[in-house]
Amino acid sequence: MNIMVIGGGGREHAIIKKLKENPAVETVWALPGNGGIARDAVCVPVGAKDLDGIVEFAKTHPVDYAVVAPDDPLVLGAVDRLTEAGIPCFGPDSRAAIIEGSKVFSKNLMKKYGIPTADYRVFSDPQEALYYITKKSEYPIVIKADGLALGKGVLIAQDESEARAAVTSIMVDKAFGASGNQIVVEEFLTGPEVSVLAFTDGETVKPMVSSMDHKRAADGDTGLNTGGMGTVAPNPCYTEHDAKICMEKIFLPTIKAMKKEGRTFKGCLYFGLMMTPKGPRVIEYNCRFGDPETQVVLPLLDTDLLTIMQAVTEERLAGVDIRWKNESACCVIMASDGYPGKYQKGFEVTVDKGWEDCICYAGVSADGDKILTSGGRVLGVVRTAPTLKEAVKEAYRASEHVHFQNAYTRSDIGARALNYLEREKR
Ligand code: AMP
Ligand code: GLY
Repeated sequence: MNIMVIGGGGREHAIIKKLKENPAVETVWALPGNGGIARDAVCVPVGAKDLDGIVEFAKTHPVDYAVVAPDDPLVLGAVDRLTEAGIPCFGPDSRAAIIEGSKVFSKNLMKKYGIPTADYRVFSDPQEALYYITKKSEYPIVIKADGLALGKGVLIAQDESEARAAVTSIMVDKAFGASGNQIVVEEFLTGPEVSVLAFTDGETVKPMVSSMDHKRAADGDTGLNTGGMGTVAPNPCYTEHDAKICMEKIFLPTIKAMKKEGRTFKGCLYFGLMMTPKGPRVIEYNCRFGDPETQVVLPLLDTDLLTIMQAVTEERLAGVDIRWKNESACCVIMASDGYPGKYQKGFEVTVDKGWEDCICYAGVSADGDKILTSGGRVLGVVRTAPTLKEAVKEAYRASEHVHFQNAYTRSDIGARALNYLEREKR
């Protein structure tokens, strides 16, 4: 089997490592991959959004299967184009990827099908939005750009002036371009957040182990929102009881709703959940594997990933038994100091002998044999262990064996989850 993986971050590195555990996998091409992924795959300089380039590569190489990992190419229709070209693919087509591509679509879908989520209103006029927010006068209030915004399109306003600034930034100044033509204004919810990724072939849905992201840049969940500074799995705030309720009220209803809308979703559907005092609510859907969630979820998978992916493509997921290791995993992101704001790059990354295996490379480039930092989130250090406490300790221990100038890590990845476990014990 020769496989093509679209994308070039830590998530893609985690997917590639897992696919390579199958001895039938010969060549993996990464488009574009990165300087660290190059140690595990053949990187091809075709951008993830260059659909023409991707299809051309697939047609001129013996590609047996393609995995489209990032949101942009999915929303743009990479799976549609590859399927047309006769390449079997993992990922939703563009009609289904809209579940992430448009928050207005996903909120309206949840409302129509009674899937629990925060109350909301949609606006395409900034004045009307501000009139509504001011009249309601309940803070904090959540303001979301409709379209893709590199994970930065959600603003939480603590008062009227912050709300005014948020609406102006998204709708008038177009901080996220056309993604801000419409906004969703929604109720502020509270409770622990849980990410659940699920395999689905449009009919059957099989959730993976739950995980917890750490989105804020600094310790104690303070500072700016980032793509994610670390993850743990499973998420102790998500009980078996929660899983049962979510399956009944959220996962299956979502899959059925998409099918009914003529937008059958096949691939990995990401449920961003909040466990509120009133029960689980959907905060967001993503049409893809999460990053860095994937870096902790896939190492716990005890079934061949390619087998599952192909079953999704061929709509026979019901017949696949998916097993998970009875362990925990922790990923600590090592970032360039300053991220998500300005940062310096171009520093050499070195790893002590024997510690390479725990790394998923994200923002790096290659310079001959050297690996240089080239992005905000440089890499993820991932370890699994019998308990969460050990996994966290091991991930931090491993991170001490990775070196680059300007490295920044949060020091409390997993702390909240461990506190939760401690409290539960008492
Ligand atoms: P999203 O990109 O939609 O996941 O939003 C980013 C983050 O904003 C989420 O992980 C939450 O922490 C927060 N958030 C989004 N919507 C809400 C909400 N309705 N209430 C409280 N926090 C929210
Ligand atoms: N870690 C959040 C995401 O992938 O969107």
